[in-house]
Amino acid sequence: MKKIVIAMTMIVCQSGIAVAADTQDRTAASRAVVKSFMQELKGELQQAMKAGGPTNAIEVCKTKAPKIAADHSNKQGWRVARTSLKVRNPGNAPDAWERKVLKSFEARKAKGEHITKMEHTEVVTQNGKQTFRYMKAIPTGQVCVNCHGAKIDAATEAKLKQVYPTDKARGFSVGDIRGAFTISQPM
Ligand code: HEC
Repeated sequence: MKKIVIAMTMIVCQSGIAVAADTQDRTAASRAVVKSFMQELKGELQQAMKAGGPTNAIEVCKTKAPKIAADHSNKQGWRVARTSLKVRNPGNAPDAWERKVLKSFEARKAKGEHITKMEHTEVVTQNGKQTFRYMKAIPTGQVCVNCHGAKIDAATEAKLKQVYPTDKARGFSVGDIRGAFTISQPM
């Protein structure tokens, strides 16, 4: 009996180690995708801002951001997206799990944690299937407040109103959590 218990314990422990290694791999892969998503989007945004200011760059955020997300999703077979507690595009609204994590990010920030490396990973059961989920906080930088800040110039404001009538992604200051990258990997 004792032997069986020891053997069982060993199996459980080893599978625990395997799960931990798998989680590490999935976290590293998520980080890599987020990094390239961020770099691609930043490049597109900077170019568009240079070419025609924020009014022009709205189009880039509207078309390129979802396209980059979709490309990464298709390539990996995952869901790769951006979300926020205050969304501009209602299509980016968080699900219940994402909302909970976004709120926990705000709580962590309030306790003094830096947001540049803030992330959360969890294995959850979704529709009866195990899914690895990853989120990484997105800080608000100087360029972001052109379109997400408290004061937005009149032409940009008019264009935003036209394209995003239900826009809530306003009033952010530099250093705020603007939102998060979010990844779901089926296991
Ligand atoms: C030129 C205007 C503009 C600038 C500058 C800008 N954004 Fe946005 N942002 C948008 C638009 C437009 C959307 C909606 C995109 C869509 O339809 O999916 C958006 C959406 C987002 C979203 C997805 C959640 C939501 O609100 O729908 C995040 C996160 C975000 N922006 C973060 C940032 C960050 C961080 C910066 C600075 C690095 C930034 N944005 C700079 C216009 C801008």
